Amino acid sequence: MSAAAVIDGQRALGFDLEAWSRVRLAQVEHALSQWVTAEVAQGLDHGAPAALVDAMRYAVLDGGKRLRPLLVLAAHEATSQSSAGDHPQAALRAACAVELIHAYSLVHDDMPCMDNDVLRRGKATVHIKFGEAGALLAGDALQALAFELLTPPDDGVPATVQARLCGLLARAAGSAGMAGGQAIDLASVGMALNERQLREMHQLKTGALLQGSVMMGAYCGAPDARALDALARYGAAIGLAFQVVDDILDVTADSATLGKTAGKDADHAKPTYVSVMGLSASQDYAQQLLVQSLAALDASGLGCTQALRGLANAVVHRAS
Ligand code: IPE
Ligand code: IPE
Ligand code: MG
Ligand code: MG
Ligand code: MG
Repeated sequence: MSAAAVIDGQRALGFDLEAWSRVRLAQVEHALSQWVTAEVAQGLDHGAPAALVDAMRYAVLDGGKRLRPLLVLAAHEATSQSSAGDHPQAALRAACAVELIHAYSLVHDDMPCMDNDVLRRGKATVHIKFGEAGALLAGDALQALAFELLTPPDDGVPATVQARLCGLLARAAGSAGMAGGQAIDLASVGMALNERQLREMHQLKTGALLQGSVMMGAYCGAPDARALDALARYGAAIGLAFQVVDDILDVTADSATLGKTAGKDADHAKPTYVSVMGLSASQDYAQQLLVQSLAALDASGLGCTQALRGLANAVVHRAS
């Protein structure tokens, strides 16, 4: 299937992803702004230091595509049923929690000890604005806040759902997920990875959190085993595709469009899909992954997958 065919397929569905996203993005922005404050830990008689909360808000609010929250909400809607097994409040919390983990990963990724970047989401990186210790602590606190959001004392989310969401997010963010992938990334500078090693690095550093977003959303609904299996394959395909496209955009887009410094992978001698496979083969591979992700949805038995389809398409055909 060609790229044009995939885009035409989206149009033929008559689904307006932009309109769908606009409503959910507004919900997520509002919730993040409410929850990333000094007052989140209700009942405590001491507040968080204002400078730390400023750095956390700077890292999270007013920026980013919010792809991970949209995936959570889309997967929830695909598996949602008007029954006791459906948890829309948990889905919004999960959407925000995964974005907090993502934002923390970006803050640390940009630090001098990692990628040493000065530009993120069109503005100065957190360590430039708040210092290295400030950035380290903002990342730490964002990570902790993610799990606080998933465990509300009084929001009607059953303890079993809270525990499952915490487990999925911890797994996706930890040593067998994002943090592990980042460790491989740093250990691979200047090395000629083969395609399998590169794929494993990308699956961990980026794919795990994207797949985790899909699975968290699904577990806020009422998925059957067939749907869970299909969504896991969908999430794996778009998770890997996302980092393949990130590697492509690093060489094809400019810094103003990306909101981060273009061309830095080659400057830092990072092995990427472009350096290992070449640009054209990388673009073909991203397209293949898109087709795989859509095939997984076809096999899911789920009726309401338009948003997931649209987001997969957006992952591969994005400009930033
Ligand atoms: C950038 O992620 C870091 C990677 C995992 C490649 P995004 O491209 O989703 O960054 P934002 O959230 O839109 O800023
Ligand atoms: C970062 O990958 C993935 C993370 C876990 C943050 P990159 O280092 O390629 O992300 P960018 O290009 O700086 O956004
Ligand atoms: Mg990096
Ligand atoms: Mg980076
Ligand atoms: Mg990159």
